[in-house]
Amino acid sequence: MVIYFTGTGNSRYLAKLTAQKLDDSLVSANALIKENKTGDFYSDSPYVFVCPTYSWQIPQIFEKFIDGSRFSGNTGCYFIMDCGDDIGNAQKPLRKLCKRKGFQYRGVKEIVMPENYIAVFSAPPEAEEKKIISAAEKELEEAVQIVRRGGFFPEKKITLTDRLKSSVVRWFFYRWVVKDKKFAVHDGCISCGTCETLCPMNNIRIVSGKPVWNGDCTHCMACICGCPAECIEYGNHTKGLRRYYLK
Ligand SMILES: Cc1cc2nc3c(=O)[nH]c(=O)nc-3n(C[C@H](O)[C@H](O)[C@H](O)COP(=O)(O)O)c2cc1C
Repeated sequence: MVIYFTGTGNSRYLAKLTAQKLDDSLVSANALIKENKTGDFYSDSPYVFVCPTYSWQIPQIFEKFIDGSRFSGNTGCYFIMDCGDDIGNAQKPLRKLCKRKGFQYRGVKEIVMPENYIAVFSAPPEAEEKKIISAAEKELEEAVQIVRRGGFFPEKKITLTDRLKSSVVRWFFYRWVVKDKKFAVHDGCISCGTCETLCPMNNIRIVSGKPVWNGDCTHCMACICGCPAECIEYGNHTKGLRRYYLK
Protein backbone atom coordinates (compact mmCIF):
# COMPACT_ATOMS: atom_id res chain seq x y z
CA MET A 1 0.00 0.00 0.00
CA VAL A 2 1.30 3.42 -0.98
CA ILE A 3 0.34 6.27 1.37
CA TYR A 4 1.28 9.85 0.57
CA PHE A 5 1.17 13.37 1.89
CA THR A 6 1.66 16.33 -0.46
CA GLY A 7 1.61 20.10 -0.51
CA THR A 8 2.09 20.97 -4.16
CA GLY A 9 1.74 17.65 -5.97
CA ASN A 10 5.30 16.26 -6.23
CA SER A 11 4.72 13.52 -3.69
CA ARG A 12 1.30 12.69 -5.14
CA TYR A 13 2.92 12.33 -8.58
CA LEU A 14 5.63 9.97 -7.29
CA ALA A 15 3.18 8.04 -5.12
CA LYS A 16 0.79 7.49 -8.05
CA LEU A 17 3.64 6.25 -10.24
CA THR A 18 4.85 3.96 -7.45
CA ALA A 19 1.39 2.47 -6.94
CA GLN A 20 0.98 1.97 -10.71
CA LYS A 21 4.37 0.30 -11.07
CA LEU A 22 3.76 -1.96 -8.06
CA ASP A 23 0.13 -2.53 -8.99
CA ASP A 24 -0.69 -1.56 -5.43
CA SER A 25 -3.32 0.60 -3.75
CA LEU A 26 -2.89 4.35 -3.22
CA VAL A 27 -4.06 6.35 -0.21
CA SER A 28 -4.04 10.13 0.22
CA ALA A 29 -3.21 11.07 3.80
CA ASN A 30 -4.20 14.65 2.90
CA ALA A 31 -7.84 13.63 2.59
CA LEU A 32 -7.85 11.97 6.03
CA ILE A 33 -5.80 14.70 7.74
CA LYS A 34 -8.19 17.31 6.37
CA GLU A 35 -11.07 15.49 8.05
CA ASN A 36 -9.04 15.24 11.25
CA LYS A 37 -8.94 11.46 10.87
CA THR A 38 -6.24 8.84 11.09
CA GLY A 39 -6.28 5.53 9.22
CA ASP A 40 -6.88 1.87 10.03
CA PHE A 41 -4.98 0.11 7.27
CA TYR A 42 -4.48 -3.48 6.19
CA SER A 43 -1.97 -4.35 3.47
CA ASP A 44 -0.63 -7.66 2.14
CA SER A 45 2.25 -5.80 0.51
CA PRO A 46 4.83 -3.61 2.32
CA TYR A 47 3.83 -0.05 3.21
CA VAL A 48 5.43 2.67 1.10
CA PHE A 49 5.16 6.20 2.53
CA VAL A 50 5.79 9.04 0.09
CA CYS A 51 6.12 12.64 1.24
CA PRO A 52 8.02 15.90 0.85
CA THR A 53 10.98 16.80 3.03
CA TYR A 54 10.31 19.60 5.53
CA SER A 55 13.45 20.82 7.21
CA TRP A 56 15.34 17.59 6.56
CA GLN A 57 12.75 15.21 7.99
CA ILE A 58 9.29 14.01 7.06
CA PRO A 59 6.63 16.70 7.67
CA GLN A 60 5.55 16.82 11.32
CA ILE A 61 1.91 16.50 10.29
CA PHE A 62 2.59 13.30 8.31
CA GLU A 63 4.57 11.77 11.16
CA LYS A 64 1.66 12.56 13.49
CA PHE A 65 -0.72 10.92 11.02
CA ILE A 66 1.40 7.74 10.82
CA ASP A 67 1.80 7.70 14.60
CA GLY A 68 -1.95 7.97 15.10
CA SER A 69 -2.90 5.36 12.47
CA ARG A 70 -3.19 1.58 12.79
CA PHE A 71 -1.37 -0.69 10.37
CA SER A 72 -1.77 -4.43 10.00
CA GLY A 73 -0.76 -7.15 7.54
CA ASN A 74 2.70 -6.77 6.05
CA THR A 75 5.23 -5.18 8.42
CA GLY A 76 7.76 -4.09 5.77
CA CYS A 77 8.04 -0.32 5.44
CA TYR A 78 9.74 1.95 2.90
CA PHE A 79 9.91 5.73 2.73
CA ILE A 80 10.28 7.81 -0.42
CA MET A 81 11.09 11.42 0.42
CA ASP A 82 11.15 13.98 -2.36
CA CYS A 83 13.12 17.15 -1.74
CA GLY A 84 14.45 20.24 -3.46
CA ASP A 85 17.97 19.38 -2.41
CA ASP A 86 18.50 16.70 0.24
CA ILE A 87 16.83 14.91 3.17
CA GLY A 88 19.65 15.37 5.71
CA ASN A 89 19.53 12.76 8.45
CA ALA A 90 15.86 11.87 7.99
CA GLN A 91 16.61 8.19 8.39
CA LYS A 92 17.26 8.39 12.14
CA PRO A 93 13.76 9.54 13.19
CA LEU A 94 12.22 7.22 10.57
CA ARG A 95 13.86 4.23 12.21
CA LYS A 96 12.42 5.35 15.53
CA LEU A 97 8.98 5.81 13.96
CA CYS A 98 9.14 2.28 12.54
CA LYS A 99 10.08 0.92 15.94
CA ARG A 100 7.09 2.67 17.55
CA LYS A 101 4.73 1.29 14.89
CA GLY A 102 6.13 -2.26 14.77
CA PHE A 103 7.37 -1.85 11.18
CA GLN A 104 10.50 -3.38 9.71
CA TYR A 105 12.37 -0.31 8.43
CA ARG A 106 13.61 -0.98 4.88
CA GLY A 107 15.11 2.41 4.20
CA VAL A 108 14.43 5.85 2.82
CA LYS A 109 14.93 6.87 -0.81
CA GLU A 110 15.84 10.52 -1.42
CA ILE A 111 14.45 11.82 -4.72
CA VAL A 112 15.07 15.39 -5.89
CA MET A 113 11.96 17.03 -7.30
CA PRO A 114 11.35 20.71 -8.16
CA GLU A 115 11.68 23.04 -5.15
CA ASN A 116 8.27 24.25 -3.96
CA TYR A 117 9.26 26.30 -0.89
CA ILE A 118 8.69 29.70 -2.45
CA ALA A 119 8.10 31.40 0.92
CA VAL A 120 11.87 31.08 1.48
CA PHE A 121 13.49 29.98 -1.81
CA SER A 122 12.22 29.91 -5.39
CA ALA A 123 10.91 27.30 -7.80
CA PRO A 124 13.04 26.31 -10.81
CA PRO A 125 12.17 27.62 -14.28
CA GLU A 126 9.89 25.40 -16.38
CA ALA A 127 12.63 23.92 -18.59
CA GLU A 128 14.66 22.89 -15.54
CA GLU A 129 11.55 21.54 -13.83
CA LYS A 130 11.03 19.03 -16.67
CA LYS A 131 14.65 17.81 -16.44
CA ILE A 132 14.38 17.38 -12.66
CA ILE A 133 11.19 15.37 -12.99
CA SER A 134 12.57 13.08 -15.65
CA ALA A 135 15.68 12.39 -13.52
CA ALA A 136 13.35 11.72 -10.56
CA GLU A 137 11.40 9.17 -12.59
CA LYS A 138 14.60 7.19 -13.16
CA GLU A 139 15.42 7.30 -9.44
CA LEU A 140 11.91 6.15 -8.64
CA GLU A 141 12.22 3.17 -11.00
CA GLU A 142 15.33 2.05 -9.08
CA ALA A 143 13.45 2.38 -5.80
CA VAL A 144 10.46 0.43 -7.11
CA GLN A 145 12.68 -2.43 -8.24
CA ILE A 146 14.05 -2.72 -4.71
CA VAL A 147 10.54 -2.68 -3.21
CA ARG A 148 9.42 -5.32 -5.72
CA ARG A 149 12.10 -7.75 -4.65
CA GLY A 150 11.64 -6.95 -0.94
CA GLY A 151 15.14 -5.48 -0.59
CA PHE A 152 16.49 -2.54 1.39
CA PHE A 153 17.20 0.96 0.08
CA PRO A 154 20.94 1.73 0.38
CA GLU A 155 21.93 3.63 3.54
CA LYS A 156 22.95 7.25 3.08
CA LYS A 157 26.29 8.31 4.56
CA ILE A 158 25.41 10.92 7.19
CA THR A 159 27.61 13.95 7.83
CA LEU A 160 27.70 16.25 10.85
CA THR A 161 25.87 18.88 8.75
CA ASP A 162 23.09 16.37 8.03
CA ARG A 163 22.72 15.70 11.75
CA LEU A 164 22.56 19.40 12.59
CA LYS A 165 20.06 20.18 9.84
CA SER A 166 17.66 17.41 10.86
CA SER A 167 17.84 18.26 14.57
CA VAL A 168 18.81 21.79 15.72
CA VAL A 169 17.92 23.64 12.52
CA ARG A 170 14.66 21.76 12.28
CA TRP A 171 13.75 22.75 15.82
CA PHE A 172 14.30 26.43 15.00
CA PHE A 173 12.40 26.03 11.75
CA TYR A 174 9.20 24.75 13.40
CA ARG A 175 9.57 27.15 16.32
CA TRP A 176 10.25 30.37 14.37
CA VAL A 177 9.60 29.96 10.66
CA VAL A 178 6.42 27.93 10.25
CA LYS A 179 3.86 30.70 10.76
CA ASP A 180 1.04 31.91 8.54
CA LYS A 181 1.06 35.61 9.50
CA LYS A 182 2.84 36.62 6.29
CA PHE A 183 0.25 35.09 3.97
CA ALA A 184 -1.97 37.73 2.40
CA VAL A 185 -4.43 37.86 -0.44
CA HIS A 186 -4.20 40.65 -2.99
CA ASP A 187 -6.46 42.18 -5.60
CA GLY A 188 -7.55 39.63 -8.14
CA CYS A 189 -8.93 37.03 -5.71
CA ILE A 190 -11.82 35.35 -7.52
CA SER A 191 -13.26 33.86 -4.31
CA CYS A 192 -13.01 30.37 -5.84
CA GLY A 193 -12.14 28.69 -2.52
CA THR A 194 -9.28 26.63 -4.03
CA CYS A 195 -6.95 27.67 -1.20
CA GLU A 196 -9.48 26.51 1.39
CA THR A 197 -9.96 23.19 -0.42
CA LEU A 198 -6.25 22.53 -0.91
CA CYS A 199 -5.16 23.35 2.66
CA PRO A 200 -4.52 19.96 4.30
CA MET A 201 -4.67 21.56 7.75
CA ASN A 202 -8.10 23.11 7.33
CA ASN A 203 -6.40 26.33 8.31
CA ILE A 204 -8.06 28.55 5.69
CA ARG A 205 -11.62 29.87 5.81
CA ILE A 206 -13.20 32.06 3.17
CA VAL A 207 -14.62 35.09 4.95
CA SER A 208 -16.48 37.70 2.88
CA GLY A 209 -15.09 36.06 -0.25
CA LYS A 210 -11.43 36.18 0.84
CA PRO A 211 -9.14 33.62 2.51
CA VAL A 212 -8.27 34.04 6.17
CA TRP A 213 -5.43 32.00 7.72
CA ASN A 214 -6.10 30.78 11.25
CA GLY A 215 -2.70 30.07 12.79
CA ASP A 216 -2.40 26.31 12.22
CA CYS A 217 -0.22 26.23 9.13
CA THR A 218 2.46 23.72 8.14
CA HIS A 219 3.92 25.84 5.29
CA CYS A 220 3.08 23.22 2.64
CA MET A 221 2.68 25.97 -0.01
CA ALA A 222 -0.54 24.46 -1.40
CA CYS A 223 -2.54 27.68 -1.00
CA ILE A 224 -0.01 30.05 -2.52
CA CYS A 225 1.09 27.72 -5.32
CA GLY A 226 -2.35 26.30 -6.07
CA CYS A 227 -4.16 29.65 -6.31
CA PRO A 228 -5.44 29.85 -9.93
CA ALA A 229 -5.40 33.67 -9.81
CA GLU A 230 -1.87 33.78 -8.30
CA CYS A 231 -2.98 36.44 -5.88
CA ILE A 232 -1.68 35.01 -2.61
CA GLU A 233 1.68 36.35 -1.44
CA TYR A 234 4.00 35.52 1.44
CA GLY A 235 5.33 38.87 2.60
CA ASN A 236 7.36 40.54 -0.14
CA HIS A 237 9.48 37.50 -0.91
CA THR A 238 7.04 35.81 -3.30
CA LYS A 239 6.23 38.90 -5.37
CA GLY A 240 7.05 38.09 -8.99
CA LEU A 241 8.15 34.53 -8.15
CA ARG A 242 6.98 31.62 -10.23
CA ARG A 243 4.36 29.41 -8.55
CA TYR A 244 5.00 25.67 -8.57
CA TYR A 245 2.18 23.14 -8.50
CA LEU A 246 2.30 19.71 -10.16
CA LYS A 247 -1.16 18.51 -11.20
C1 LIG B 1 8.08 23.80 4.55
C2 LIG B 1 9.04 23.20 3.55
C3 LIG B 1 10.28 22.74 3.97
C4 LIG B 1 11.16 22.18 3.05
N1 LIG B 1 12.35 21.67 3.49
C5 LIG B 1 13.19 21.07 2.63
C6 LIG B 1 14.42 20.50 3.09
O1 LIG B 1 14.73 20.48 4.27
N2 LIG B 1 15.24 19.96 2.15
C7 LIG B 1 14.94 19.94 0.83
O2 LIG B 1 15.75 19.46 0.03
N3 LIG B 1 13.76 20.42 0.36
C8 LIG B 1 12.87 20.98 1.23
N4 LIG B 1 11.67 21.47 0.77
C9 LIG B 1 11.28 21.25 -0.64
C10 LIG B 1 10.25 20.12 -0.79
O3 LIG B 1 10.55 19.04 0.05
C11 LIG B 1 10.14 19.61 -2.24
O4 LIG B 1 9.97 20.63 -3.17
C12 LIG B 1 9.02 18.58 -2.35
O5 LIG B 1 9.20 17.86 -3.55
C13 LIG B 1 7.62 19.18 -2.33
O6 LIG B 1 6.69 18.11 -2.38
P1 LIG B 1 5.12 18.31 -2.54
O7 LIG B 1 4.92 18.98 -3.89
O8 LIG B 1 4.59 16.92 -2.52
O9 LIG B 1 4.64 19.14 -1.43
C14 LIG B 1 10.80 22.07 1.67
C15 LIG B 1 9.55 22.55 1.26
C16 LIG B 1 8.68 23.11 2.19
C17 LIG B 1 7.34 23.60 1.72
